[in-house]
Amino acid sequence: MSGVDPNRIDSIGEGSEAPGIEPGAENGEREMRSETAPARTAPGPITAAEFTDERILRARSTAPARGWRRLLFALTRGWVHLPPSAAERAERDLVTRIKTPVAGPRRIAVLSRKGGVGKTTTCLMLGHTFATHRGDRVAALDGNPDAGSLGYRVRRETTATVTDLLRDAATVDRYADIRAYTSQAPTRLEVIAADDDPRISDAFEEPQYRAVVDVLERHYNLILLDTGTGILGSATRGLISLADQVVLVVPPSLDGARASSATFDWLDEHGGGHLVKGAVTVINASGRRGPVMVDRIEEHFRRRCRSVVQIPWDPVLQAGSETTLPELRRGTQRAYLELAAAVADGFGPRWWMAPPSSDHARSQA
Ligand SMILES: Nc1ncnc2c1ncn2[C@@H]1O[C@H](COP(=O)(O)OP(=O)(O)OP(=O)(O)O)[C@@H](O)[C@H]1O
Ligand SMILES: [Mg+2]
Repeated sequence: MSGVDPNRIDSIGEGSEAPGIEPGAENGEREMRSETAPARTAPGPITAAEFTDERILRARSTAPARGWRRLLFALTRGWVHLPPSAAERAERDLVTRIKTPVAGPRRIAVLSRKGGVGKTTTCLMLGHTFATHRGDRVAALDGNPDAGSLGYRVRRETTATVTDLLRDAATVDRYADIRAYTSQAPTRLEVIAADDDPRISDAFEEPQYRAVVDVLERHYNLILLDTGTGILGSATRGLISLADQVVLVVPPSLDGARASSATFDWLDEHGGGHLVKGAVTVINASGRRGPVMVDRIEEHFRRRCRSVVQIPWDPVLQAGSETTLPELRRGTQRAYLELAAAVADGFGPRWWMAPPSSDHARSQA
């Protein structure tokens, strides 16, 4: 980040206030925010294609969505209408939380200290889950300067990258303009790819990402920021300084958990205490038998941040290809619902006064 002490992220969370929301106001963290930050406005009007069920329709009848209850409902044309199972009701509760409104655009950075632990996978599947269940627009930006792979995890609709978007930022005005730079998945998640050439991506620091995010937040309510490995690179530090919330991805291993805990220490020491308190930790690819007691790792992070979710190891995710939610095992789908709900719990004003959501954030996988 140019022009600031390289050991401090003074602008962390800068300008994150949506109307009526004062994150960190009670513990003096607002002092860290810039007085000159431009006001953030809600994205523009929706297009015809966005008149979705979630946005427009009232919640529908409670007919069971699957299983034998659904079959009975269908076979009897609705005459036998049993209430949904407890598991299905719990999922509906998660979806209700996922739909928590945001008063203005929200930037969520996905981080990890180690490489290859599942940041991009988490960013992608979190984005798909939000886009599936929310009526507003969701974008995911590849902020990994070293051969970021987010753009390859959805069907590419454009060869344009974040570099092109930055270059044309001044002329990108309407939603139709920005669609030339994004690839949209069937869930409606839109992805902005990184450049394959690390020499180009390396030039991205906080000012460049800020300019891109300024354009994005005119059109998207949720902006997920996929980052590169570590937290000391200038690109990642730039993205952290723009984030309202972070999702920390932790591998189910001792050294990975230790390094991840040190990431929270680093954020605490560099003006990001509010990001740590509001963070959601993902223990990724858990559930395989081994010597590590993953629940101990979970217990540790539960004391440090707002919520912890375990995402199970899943053979479909291991392929590292274009992935859609219905392909995943049920336990994995459920875990992503829990993750999105835990992240969305941070959208409401003054979340730190609400009871921690971590109890319902435990994976059932
Ligand atoms: N829950 C999971 N179950 C099974 N495999 C997984 C899971 N999450 C990630 N993987 C595997 O790990 C690989 C690396 O994941 P991913 O690309 O998301 O990591 P990353 O942290 O973004 O890596 P990098 O630091 O290179 O950006 C994926 O290609 C996939 O094979
Ligand atoms: Mg990645």
